[in-house]
Amino acid sequence: MAEVKTHTFDAVIVGAGGAGLMAALYASKSANVAVISKLYPTRSHTGAALGGIGAALGNVGEDHWEWHAYDTVKGSDYLADQDAVDVLCREAVETVYELEHMGLPFDRTSEGRISQRRFGGHTNNETGKPVPRACHAADRTGHMILQTLYQQCIKNNVTFFDEYHVVDLIRVENTVRGVVAVQISTGEFHIFHSKAVHFATGGWGKCWEVTSNAHSLTGDGAAICLRRGIPLEDMEFFQFHPTGIFKLGILITEGVRGEGGILLNGQGERFMERYAPTIKDLASRDVVSRAIFLELQAGRGINGKNYVHLDVRPETVNYYFEQAGDSRRITKEFIEEKLAETVDLGRTYLGIDPVHEPIPIQPTAHYAMGGIPTDVDGRVLLDVQNTPLPGLYAAGECACVSVHGANRLGTNSLVDLVVFGRRSGVHMGQYCQETELLPLPENAADEVMAEFERIRNGSGGVKSHDLRRRMQVAMMANVGVFRTEELMKNALEELRQLRLDYGRNLQIDDKGKQFNSDLLEAWEVGCLLELSEVTAVAALARTESRGGHARDDFPKRDDENWLKHSLCFAEDESYRLDYKPVVLGRYQPKERVY
Ligand code: FUM
Repeated sequence: MAEVKTHTFDAVIVGAGGAGLMAALYASKSANVAVISKLYPTRSHTGAALGGIGAALGNVGEDHWEWHAYDTVKGSDYLADQDAVDVLCREAVETVYELEHMGLPFDRTSEGRISQRRFGGHTNNETGKPVPRACHAADRTGHMILQTLYQQCIKNNVTFFDEYHVVDLIRVENTVRGVVAVQISTGEFHIFHSKAVHFATGGWGKCWEVTSNAHSLTGDGAAICLRRGIPLEDMEFFQFHPTGIFKLGILITEGVRGEGGILLNGQGERFMERYAPTIKDLASRDVVSRAIFLELQAGRGINGKNYVHLDVRPETVNYYFEQAGDSRRITKEFIEEKLAETVDLGRTYLGIDPVHEPIPIQPTAHYAMGGIPTDVDGRVLLDVQNTPLPGLYAAGECACVSVHGANRLGTNSLVDLVVFGRRSGVHMGQYCQETELLPLPENAADEVMAEFERIRNGSGGVKSHDLRRRMQVAMMANVGVFRTEELMKNALEELRQLRLDYGRNLQIDDKGKQFNSDLLEAWEVGCLLELSEVTAVAALARTESRGGHARDDFPKRDDENWLKHSLCFAEDESYRLDYKPVVLGRYQPKERVY
C-alpha cells in the first residue's frame, strides 16, 4: 500500500455546512479542531436553504416557542421526540439572536427588528392561522448563515482541509480514532487521527431523479457510519418539497407562498382549498406535495402536463389577499427584493420572469428526516437502548436527533443545524479535554484503499453514472411521494441488481490520481445505492402512512403499531430492522387537520 500522510487533531469535523461550522466554532473554544470538506465551505448545501430560519421571536405578531414546538410535532405526524423538539424550539430564539450578533444581515421590520415571514405549517396554536416565524435574509438565508459562520471560524483559527473527501471512519470496537480522506487534487490518502469525529455531511437527495439537492449530496457520512456498524434511524421518511422547478428539481422557496404566492392547477383552480381548507397553500410539505401529486394524477396539470403553477404575480396574489380580507398587498419591487433568488432562478433556469409569469413546479426530493441516530448533544447512538459511541458525533441533515419525525416543518433544517451544531460542538470540546488520544490501529486506511483500487481496476464495463441513473429512476417511480408494497418490491429488486453490478462489473475511464472525479463519484454511487436500499427496506416494513411516508395500500396512520422509530443495521450484506419508542411529551397524537 502507498504511504499515507497522518495529521493529528483533538477533533475532526467532516462537512462544512451550517452544522459542521457551528460545531467547529464551539468545539474550537476548547479543542484543536480540523474541518474536512469535499467542497469549499461556502459551497456547502446549507446555502440552498432559502426562505428562512424558524424562531418564535414574535417580531411580526404574537408567538411562543411552545407554539413552534407544537407545529414541529404536528408537522412530524407525531413521530418527533418531544424532548428534542423542546430543545430545538427553545434554543432557536437565542441562536437566531446569536447569528444576528455575529453579523448575519437579516431583513428588518420598519422598527429595525429581524423580519419574519409566514411558512408552511407555522401556526397560532389557538386559531390555527398562519404565524410569521421565518427569520430571513431575502430568500438567501442559508447562504448568509454559511458565510457568517465561515467568517467566524476563520476568525477563530479553525483549520480547514478543503477538497478532502472523507471515505472511512476509523473505529476500534467502541472507540473512534479518526477518519481516512482522499485529497482530491492529488489522489493521496490521508489519515486524520483524533480523539473525536463529528459527521455533518448533509443528505442524500441524489438517490432520486428529481431533487433539490446538489450533485455532492451523496450521503457519505451516513453510509460510512452504516458500514462501521452504526444503525440508521427512520430512513423511510424522506421529504418531497412541493415546489421544485419542473424537471430540474431546483428549489423554489416556500417563502414564495409565505409572501402570498398560490398554487394553481391546469383548470386555474386554487386546489389547496380542497386539501387544507384553513391554511391552504401553507399546509405542511407532505400534505402539499401529495395534493400536487394527486392533481397531476387526475390530469389536472398545466395543459395536461406533469406540473402545476406557483403564481406570485402581484395581480394574482393581491386578488387572493382581497378575497380573504387580508390587508397585505405586494408589488413587483417587493418580490424583486424579498424573493430575489426566486426571481433569479426563474430567469436563469426557465427563461421566465416570476413577477410576470407563473412558475412551473413539481414536488422534488428535498430532505432526509432520518439518519445517524444521536441524542440532543450530538452523541451518536448505537442501538435501541440509546447507548452512545464515545467520541462520535453527528448533527444536521445526516443526523436523526429526532426533531423532524416523519415530516420536517419548513425552516427547521436551519434551526437544527445551528442548535444541534452548537450543542454537539460544546459537548465534543469538553469530551476532548477529558480524553486521551488513543493509538491508531495498524494499516488503518488499508480497507478503504483496497476498495478504491478495486473500483479503479474494475473492467466489467458497467459505468457508475448508469447505475446512478437507474437507481434514481427506480427510487422516483417506486419510493416517492406515494408508495405501495408492489412498487417498493420492484425498487428493491432493481437496487439489489444494481448493487451486484456495482460490486462485480464496475468500470471507470479515468485511471489517474489527480482530480479523479470519475473514481470519487463511483465511490459516492456506492453510498447512494446502500442508502436507497435501506430507505426501501425500512419503507416496505412500515405498513402505515405517516408524514412523508404515504402508502396507497396502508392509507391510515397506525399509532397502535407504528408510533416508533426504525433502526436499520447493515449485517452480512443485508439489512436488519429494529424499533425504539418515540419520546412523547405535551402533545398526544391526534389527527392532523390543516
Ligand atoms: O422552502 C425553503 O425555503 C426551504 C427551506 C427548508 O427546507 O427549510
